[in-house]
Parts: sequence; structure tokens; C-alpha cells
Amino acid sequence: MTYENILTELRGNGPLRTGLVTLHRPKQLNALNDTLMDELGAALKAFDADDTVGCIVITGSEKAFAAGADIGAMAKWGYMDVYKSDYITRNWETIRSIRKPVIAAVAGFALGGGCELAMMCDIVIAADTAKFGQPEIKLGIIPGAGGTQRLPRAVGKAKAMDLVLTGRMMDAAEAERAGLVSRVVPAAELLDVAFAAAQNICEFSGPSVMMAKECVNRAYESPLSEGVTFERRVFHSLFATEDQKEGMDAFVAKRKPAFKQR
Ligand code: CAA
Repeated sequence: MTYENILTELRGNGPLRTGLVTLHRPKQLNALNDTLMDELGAALKAFDADDTVGCIVITGSEKAFAAGADIGAMAKWGYMDVYKSDYITRNWETIRSIRKPVIAAVAGFALGGGCELAMMCDIVIAADTAKFGQPEIKLGIIPGAGGTQRLPRAVGKAKAMDLVLTGRMMDAAEAERAGLVSRVVPAAELLDVAFAAAQNICEFSGPSVMMAKECVNRAYESPLSEGVTFERRVFHSLFATEDQKEGMDAFVAKRKPAFKQR
């Protein structure tokens, strides 16, 4: 399928491949307009439904992962325009619904909606050039795609307040120290590292990968006792899969497991 504002491809030679989405509005630093968000949602859904895809990577350009929502498009909006828009509802909910792991490979600016998009991914790998921020305050608005909620959960209240209220950017090293990103790598190695992580995930059993993601995400939504109960039920259910037998038989026989379930 051909898109206007994103590029998609499949990478890898194994039984399961990695779906790559590259945000591609270079002149606008990948500002997230409706078309781009519609296309991103469609591409993610297509990869999620494809049994030959085990993991998804979202990336941008060297200069920008995404510089936020499209300010030009929003500038004339009034209350009812933004209320009725799909911009921060349907498209962003789609990302949340993806079952397979999604890795954000971030170089350059990840600002506003760009930072929010990265935070909606399951793993964030940053180039040493990455810059994160929620600068909406400078525009007379606030983050609108989960930034005021996900940022404090990721980096704590003190740093989240600092970023949201001053609009300043933090570099990759600060973002890693704060816990927003899992790894910082040289910019030239960003995609290789992201693909290696993705292909690593592709080798595992589909049910355990998807359920592990679901359980970790549950930690955001529930008190510890409920989260632990949820995890336990999911743990029990994995013993009904063929891949659990395969994984444990392979360990006992000292051979590599051949997981089959997708
Ligand atoms: N929307 C629309 N266009 C954007 C944009 C955005 N968010 N960010 C950058 N652009 C455009 C610029 O207008 C410029 O276009 P022209 O060449 O046609 O003038 C082009 O991208 C390059 O940008 P700059 O010349 O500004 O590049 P720079 O290197 O000097 O600065 C930057 C880069 C610091 C990212 C700066 O562009 C910037 O501050 N952008 C806005 C960031 C922002 O405020 N993001 C939050 C948006 S609101 C939001 O996201 C709401 C939400 O929570 C959902």
C-alpha cells in the first residue's frame, strides 16, 4: 500500500519479520497531521494483523522523530473543531490497541505529540541526537495526547512538571537518566539497534510476547494487587499453549526452541 506521509517496509529474513514505519513529512519535521496519523494507524493495524510480522518499529528522520501536532493545521481551530476532530481520539486510540510490541527509534526532535507518540510505544530507543519535550505551553495550550499523564508516570512528577511548565527540551542522556528511554545509541547505529531488538523479540512465542506487553501495560492502569492477580491469570493461561511445552522441552533437552504460535 502506498501512503502520502509515511513509508512502510518489512525487514528481516527469519520466519517473523519486523514492520518498519518511517514518518515522512520532512519539510514539516514530521508534524503529525490528520493524514499522517490516519496512515500510521492503518499501517500499525495492518502489521498487527499480519502473521509474518512479530514486532514493529516506528522511526522518523535524522532531524526529527516528530515535532508535534501540526500547528499550521490547528492554528485556526476553535473549541468545536478540536472537540469533533479525530486527531487526538481515534488515531491515538489505534496505537494503544496494537498487540505486538512497538519500538520507537527516535533521532532528533520528539516534541509535543512526537514525544507523546514515543511514550505510547513499548520501548523507546534514542539516538544521542534525540531531544524530548512537551512545549505546548509556549503555544497557549497543553499536551493533548496523553503527555501530562504518561510523562509523570515515566519520569516522575518533578521532571514532568519542569518539562510541561517550562516547555524546555531534554537531551537523550537526560531522558535515559529519567527513565523515558531504555537505551541511547550513536545516531548512525539507531536503526540497526532497533532492528536487532525487534528481531530478538520476533524469535519468541507470539502469545508470550503479546501477553507480556499486556501485563506490563496493566501496571499503568491498576493497583499492585490487581496487577499481580491479572499477571498470575495470564501466566496460568500460557501453560495452555504449545509454545510453553516447546520452550521448556527445549530447555531441558538443551536445544534451541522452535516457537510456532503467532
Ligand atoms: N507543526 C507544523 N509545522 C512544523 C512543526 C509543527 N509542530 N514543527 C516544525 N514545523 C515546520 C516549521 O514551520 C518549518 O516550516 P517552514 O520551513 O515552512 O517554515 C519547518 O518545519 C522547519 O522548522 P524550523 O524552521 O522551525 O526548524 P528549526 O530547526 O529552527 O526548529 C523546532 C525546530 C525546535 C522543532 C521548531 O520547529 C519547533 O519549535 N516546532 C514546534 C514544536 C512544538 O511546539 N510542538 C508541539 C505542537 S502542539 C502538540 O503536539 C499538541 C499535542 O499534544 C497533541
